[in-house]
Amino acid sequence: MSFTMAQLIEQRQGEQYALHKLYINPALARVQAIIGFDKIYARGEGCYLWDSDGNRYLDLLSGFSVFNLGRGHPLVKQAIQEVLALDRPSLVKMDCPLLAGLLAEELVRRMPPGLDAVFFANSGADAVDTALKFARAATRRPRMLYLDHAFHGLTLSTLALNGGKQFRQGFEPLMCGFDAIAMDDLRALEDRLRHKDVAAFIVEPIQGKGVYIPSDGYLPEAQRLCREYGTLLICDEVQVGMGRTGRFLCCEHWNLEPDIVTLSKSLGGGYIPVSATITRRRIHDATFNRLDRCQVHSTTFGQNELAMAAGLATLHVLQEERLVERAATMGEKLLGGLAALRDRYEMIADVRGKGLMIAIEFKPPRSLGLHAAWTAAEAAQKGLFAQLVVMNLMREHHVLTQVSGPDLNIIKLLPPLIIEDKEVEMIIAAFDAVMAEAGKVGGRVWGQSVQLIKHALAG
Ligand SMILES: Cc1ncc(COP(=O)(O)O)c(C=O)c1O
Repeated sequence: MSFTMAQLIEQRQGEQYALHKLYINPALARVQAIIGFDKIYARGEGCYLWDSDGNRYLDLLSGFSVFNLGRGHPLVKQAIQEVLALDRPSLVKMDCPLLAGLLAEELVRRMPPGLDAVFFANSGADAVDTALKFARAATRRPRMLYLDHAFHGLTLSTLALNGGKQFRQGFEPLMCGFDAIAMDDLRALEDRLRHKDVAAFIVEPIQGKGVYIPSDGYLPEAQRLCREYGTLLICDEVQVGMGRTGRFLCCEHWNLEPDIVTLSKSLGGGYIPVSATITRRRIHDATFNRLDRCQVHSTTFGQNELAMAAGLATLHVLQEERLVERAATMGEKLLGGLAALRDRYEMIADVRGKGLMIAIEFKPPRSLGLHAAWTAAEAAQKGLFAQLVVMNLMREHHVLTQVSGPDLNIIKLLPPLIIEDKEVEMIIAAFDAVMAEAGKVGGRVWGQSVQLIKHALAG
């Protein structure tokens, strides 16, 4: 009997939400339906998705920053197809694969000074988990520090570094000795470091949940304090790395020289899961410190040929197409256009970001009718206004966005780094129209709130 993916997809297209309700995550399938995101996508290319009726959507989620190159980049596709056609000997395990060595070499070339040892794994949480283990092995210290609002993954170890209680609820107790401190509070940091029992301080140089940016002097001074007290600085670049903020690594904005960097998401070119933990040789070697411990930390699919090829092709494209520089220039245009809306719409509290990682934060309106609508929505669920804006952008403008985290009245934009002026104009026009509509109590934005409040109250 023949088996082709094309045939299978043609036969079963349209059943996805029913299948997910049956076999995967019914709650998520329901939420997609409630917020009007239950589309049947048929194709993706560049910055766009198309549904099965041929409607086009501008994708400002980028798979949570997986598609920095856009979808279906031909060079990444070609690299993967070549590896398949060559029948490359992937995952021999008892060898040292060439492509892993080449990708490590390319990554090291792009790192701050001194980061010259690479460990490959499969996901962002894997990379962070590796960083934590390496830090403990290198320092022989037990504790970790992380920032309020931080997000470093959802495995049991990375959850212990999660600054949002919504994610932790139901899974405690977590690892002990992992403590949160407030961003920009250097005194709190030094108070913790002084005991010399902290293995590592982990930061997202710009936080993914909320797009919170530290004040300019914070990270350099935090790095200095870490050095003084023998604590390693980990920059988690899983979301903000790979050019997203207009530099290859976000920590370059502050000329940081961290001890460990984690990368994932876009490194696989939007095709193959892969992550890398890049560190100083002495830190790496503290884990693999004897011949009989040469595999004491390892993961089965790390270094697989498809992932390594995707990584090599992705780095090549970022450089050849100057996408990091492009993220900086297009980001400035988008940020400027959205910031101009802040002056016109009272509910926009702030527009911030770097490169193509941008947040729009909302605040309660002053006018009486709108204020009442806002209060009712927020009483049912915090951040519900941002969700209404996201729903409206999708329904009326076919623009995919996201609320930046639980309980936040913040929308986050993560467009592919390939966007052009026309997409920037589309985004600004769509926001303009939705904010104008949100200024009318009886308008289409608030019209959906009753339904949403009902669902929120029903849990
Ligand atoms: C900064 C950061 N670290 C780690 C992770 C976890 O990555 P993954 O979902 O691939 O495990 C994420 C995911 O969004 C992230 O944003």
